Amino acid sequence: MKFEIVPNVYWIGKIDWELRRFHGEEYSTHRGSSYNSYLVGDEKIALIDTVWMPFAKEFVANLAKEIDLNKIDYVIANHAEMDHSGALPELMRHIPDKPVYCTANAVKSLKGHYHQNWNFQVVKTGEKLSLGKKELVFVEAMMLHWPDSMMTYLTDDAILFSNDAFGQHIASEHMYNDLVVQSELFEEATKYYANILTPFSLLVTKKINEVIALNLPVNAICPSHGVMWRDNPLQIAEQYLKWAADYQENQITLIYDTMWNGTRMLAENIARGIKKKDDKVTVKLCNIARSDINDVVTEIFKSKAILVGSPTINKGILNATAALLEMITGLKFKSKKAAAFGCFGWSGESIKILTDHLTKAGFEVVSDGFKAMWQPDDEALAQACEFGMDFAGKT
Ligand code: FEO
Repeated sequence: MKFEIVPNVYWIGKIDWELRRFHGEEYSTHRGSSYNSYLVGDEKIALIDTVWMPFAKEFVANLAKEIDLNKIDYVIANHAEMDHSGALPELMRHIPDKPVYCTANAVKSLKGHYHQNWNFQVVKTGEKLSLGKKELVFVEAMMLHWPDSMMTYLTDDAILFSNDAFGQHIASEHMYNDLVVQSELFEEATKYYANILTPFSLLVTKKINEVIALNLPVNAICPSHGVMWRDNPLQIAEQYLKWAADYQENQITLIYDTMWNGTRMLAENIARGIKKKDDKVTVKLCNIARSDINDVVTEIFKSKAILVGSPTINKGILNATAALLEMITGLKFKSKKAAAFGCFGWSGESIKILTDHLTKAGFEVVSDGFKAMWQPDDEALAQACEFGMDFAGKT
């Protein structure tokens, strides 16, 4: 499938309708995804990025139907992660001597992935590659989200090929941001930022401001996943600046796991207390063992505070809660408050374990937490409600 964006600039990627897990099993993709490759023509022709390896043969065969592969003058590898570089080995088998433009770090990662010594041409920010009348301008984007990442800007048509930045995991036959359901688009863009880009927020701010300072016109932002931003394209850059600034809404999320419903009852009564104290705040409850972990991470991203609950088991915590805490430690959320809660039978270590983990994950723990022995009775539930009121007062 080839799709014309403007004359001589084509999308030629792969829409992956079936994808439900990404990054191995780490990231849920309820709406599939796409791997966006772009063919840019002038007197010279450049191919920007490819697709994931399972679609390599299909991609190259499709490309060969559209253009004699030998007529591709330049291959641009904005990022070496395999969802974008996966078809390079198949492509380069056909055109082994063509130059591959990428960052110095991408040479390392591409060699590390494919063990090939292609004709690498290292580029740095500001360097240009002439296509004839138009030029490609390279912008390194180190750690957005890999050391090798970069963006490529096409002059005249004023298109920024941003690679992972500004992407969304959406499969759609509608190729543009103004053609898809806006709530779905922003839900997926938020999830993408929360789960992938949060740890790099300082760099996001720096890079976007650096690109804005170049004062280049931007008619479209074409990321490597999901739909292209042509309607008010800078809206997603502005949104990224907000997300990168320790984003939070007026939301408190309770995340818990439970064995015999005691910790769930605590969660519901803590939530009751929060609402009693502040009826404006949005309160959400997520049983982490029964929820999609990436969706829960997105709820945490939106929250000003979280409460994490687990009963004590074998002097520890339930494994779904442990997995979440491990994930959010790596994501380095900032400026969010937290506390722990849970039931116990005899030893009751879970509160301390949860609290220590939340502290290590960078949350401001604002209380010693709340625990109840055995199944909470009316008195314990009333205390949980009081605890919720107290917590809401501290957020
Ligand atoms: Fe879409 Fe970092 O790969």
